[in-house]
Amino acid sequence: MLPVPVTGREVAKQRKVSGNPDPNEVRGTPGRSELKGKNMKSTSGKREWGSLAAAKSGQFQIGGDLSVNRLGFGAMRITGKGVWGEPKDRGETIRVLRRVVDLGINFIDTADSYGPAVSEEIIAEALHPYPEGLVIATKAGFDRPGPDKWVTNGRPEHLRAALEGSLRRLRLERIDVFQLHRIDDKVPAEDQLGALKELQAQGKIKHIGLSEVSVAQIEHARRILPIVSVQNRYSVVDRAADDVVDYCERENVGFIPWFPLAAGDVSAAGSALERTAKQLKITPSQLALKWLLWRSPVILPIPGTSRVAHLDENVAAAALEVDDATLQGLGKLAQGA
Ligand SMILES: NC(=O)c1ccc[n+]([C@@H]2O[C@H](COP(=O)([O-])OP(=O)(O)OC[C@H]3O[C@@H](n4cnc5c(N)ncnc54)[C@H](OP(=O)(O)O)[C@@H]3O)[C@@H](O)[C@H]2O)c1
Repeated sequence: MLPVPVTGREVAKQRKVSGNPDPNEVRGTPGRSELKGKNMKSTSGKREWGSLAAAKSGQFQIGGDLSVNRLGFGAMRITGKGVWGEPKDRGETIRVLRRVVDLGINFIDTADSYGPAVSEEIIAEALHPYPEGLVIATKAGFDRPGPDKWVTNGRPEHLRAALEGSLRRLRLERIDVFQLHRIDDKVPAEDQLGALKELQAQGKIKHIGLSEVSVAQIEHARRILPIVSVQNRYSVVDRAADDVVDYCERENVGFIPWFPLAAGDVSAAGSALERTAKQLKITPSQLALKWLLWRSPVILPIPGTSRVAHLDENVAAAALEVDDATLQGLGKLAQGA
């Protein structure tokens, strides 16, 4: 395992987290200027993202040109049990999503397979026409035969159909960040990534990301097309992807940790996290998010919730002051716990 940088904040100071060229323009696929205006009719006007609560988490430029506040929102939990069907309380779900943008979160992660379809449909119902600058990242690469059942499907025809479904449900003409949910080992990776590259060339996708990948897989994919983000399971208590975080930081690729709160369990009674949070008079979830934001300037946490109260608590984490020594110590303690 590679060592954690001295402090995330020091790293952030040393390097500017921006300035990537537009990968589309580099590879000869449609660039920003050609795609300009694509989603314009979907926007409901400007919002001062930088002055809202989530802005306290800092900013990251996805692909060098999509600026987002680092604390995002994961929209998997706005579906029913087993990530299947309708949420228990659709009204509360709509309230959560509207509050998401009111609090300044302008990066929402979803997938065609959440529900399936339900998460994307509710996002559009709650937020379309979207405020300018809201980035919705979706994913494809799973079939859903039933609740809690996930079957990888990276066949090019599946990915193409999934993209069309996401465009329709989200009411967009182009997806800002389209992520391959899994690299399907039954299909050559070149075919899966090649399909996405074609869709990008057609102007239907702006940027492409990966999910649950190793450093070797990211490097292989980057030989085929530009990759702007990686989404792996990761939290202060779950550090298997430490090497991927370090790689992303070196390469200025966004790292989106899923399960950032270990579904609320990071607060297990008696844990290092719970003890430290108590001392700081904050909640364990807030401390877990604070640690992720500190860990690397390329990390974009996407805690998910179906409740406004939890959303407020999570966003409040962005403004909390926790000193570097405490966060560094917590990383070591939680890792060894
Ligand atoms: N790429 C992938 O393969 C993959 C896999 C899984 C998830 N994801 C993405 O990652 C996002 C986050 O992952 P996740 O939802 O599995 O994990 P998570 O964000 O760590 O946990 C969400 C759970 O924690 C609870 N929670 C949220 N805030 C809380 C708080 N302040 N206090 C106590 N409990 C709280 C929520 O319950 P309540 O609803 O009751 O608040 C929810 O059940 C998903 O929404 C999805 O977008 C990606």
